[in-house]
Amino acid sequence: MEKLKIRGGGQLVGRLRVQGAKNSVLPILAASILVQGESVLQNCPDLKDVDAAISILRHLGCKVKRQGKDVHIDSKAITRCDVPDDLMREMRSSVIFLGAILGRMGEAILSLPGGCELGPRPIDLHLEALRALGADLEEVGGNIVCRTEGLVGTEINLASPSVGATENVMLAAVCAKGETVITNAAREPEIVDLAAFLAASGARISGAGQSTITISGSGLGKSTTHRIMPDRIVASTYLSAVAFVGGRLELLDAEPTHLETLITALRAAGCEITVSGQDIQIESDGKLGAISPVITRPYPGFPTDAMPCLLAASVKAQGTTVFIENIFQNRYRYVEELRRMGAEIKLEGRVAVVTGISNLHGARVDATDLRGGAALVVAALGAEGETQIGEVHHIDRGYDSLEATLGGLGADIERVND
Ligand code: UD1
Repeated sequence: MEKLKIRGGGQLVGRLRVQGAKNSVLPILAASILVQGESVLQNCPDLKDVDAAISILRHLGCKVKRQGKDVHIDSKAITRCDVPDDLMREMRSSVIFLGAILGRMGEAILSLPGGCELGPRPIDLHLEALRALGADLEEVGGNIVCRTEGLVGTEINLASPSVGATENVMLAAVCAKGETVITNAAREPEIVDLAAFLAASGARISGAGQSTITISGSGLGKSTTHRIMPDRIVASTYLSAVAFVGGRLELLDAEPTHLETLITALRAAGCEITVSGQDIQIESDGKLGAISPVITRPYPGFPTDAMPCLLAASVKAQGTTVFIENIFQNRYRYVEELRRMGAEIKLEGRVAVVTGISNLHGARVDATDLRGGAALVVAALGAEGETQIGEVHHIDRGYDSLEATLGGLGADIERVND
């Protein structure tokens, strides 16, 4: 079994370019199904979830070629409308293919996604919205079978601003007759990136990044080239790591406007952060002052995905830090692993209270989920002695070349086979 072995204590110094965003490339790969031509996606990170999405596209009949960070997708000859169970299981967010396949083929058959490590992950909002657009849905033997005689635009008010549901509606609505208006839409930057890809491919879409998005169903015609936005969660991981262990890092292509809540928190804790155009420079002595309560909310609030690494960075901060998780249940499974390293953290439901201690020590721990695993990496970098992190496959879902990147900044990290 693969493990990450990290000997902590050293500072992180250097510069790096932020990888393309996982949560942006996945819905855009799904969107490429709608293009009656070739899509070229640049800056695609090398991740297991991206491989899984490409396998789904190939299964459907797309021709997909990967050249370095570019992915070329030719969707002219899609022949299938089903995604088999094994491919669905490889990627948790594969439900994002539902709206696109339905839009393109008039029928989509997907197995139902199970619960996930962050708690139950229902898709009721996705299904309700697709029904409102004119889809008939039924559950047959663990599969969701979705058919339409033709989607028709309508007003869809999401009960909560779900990122995935907003994306699914956007994709289906592109193929609907007439106008679709999504109210209470998610405002995450990844929604804006998806809208940019759709617009470049010929869709008429406005309002992405705001709560109301309007889509005029017109189909997608044009072949297009699109550069995937930088991954704000990966950027926040490296910023949190440097804040915690100390050092100096220049993050290139980091899109600072996406990271405002984290930058504010780290500055308040004593880090020196300079923003210049798309780049962010952070300097930290590794001795963080008190951190104000961190409360996760939909964008532009503090991102739930950035919370675990900031929590790890707070374990040696002055005083106590309060974290409140509002998006997912079971987001704190990694906390038990941080405790093995000596962290003092009390949990009560959605609230975690971290009491700053003087030192963490290395331990054998397991990644419990993607961002929880990244939090263990951050903690290990600042712990005394060696930490071995198992279940690395969770971390590999979101970080391209993690060891090479951190090694380049001076970290003592290696992947071993145990
Ligand atoms: C996306 C991101 C994930 C991030 C999350 C919140 C991708 C691939 N994943 O996940 O990394 O943590 O946004 O920023 O982009 N919900 C329902 N019913 C639904 C849909 C969602 O109850 O039909 C609930 C979920 O269980 C969760 C909350 O709404 O508690 C937010 O989920 P959502 O915004 O949909 O997140 P994802 O799109 O799954």
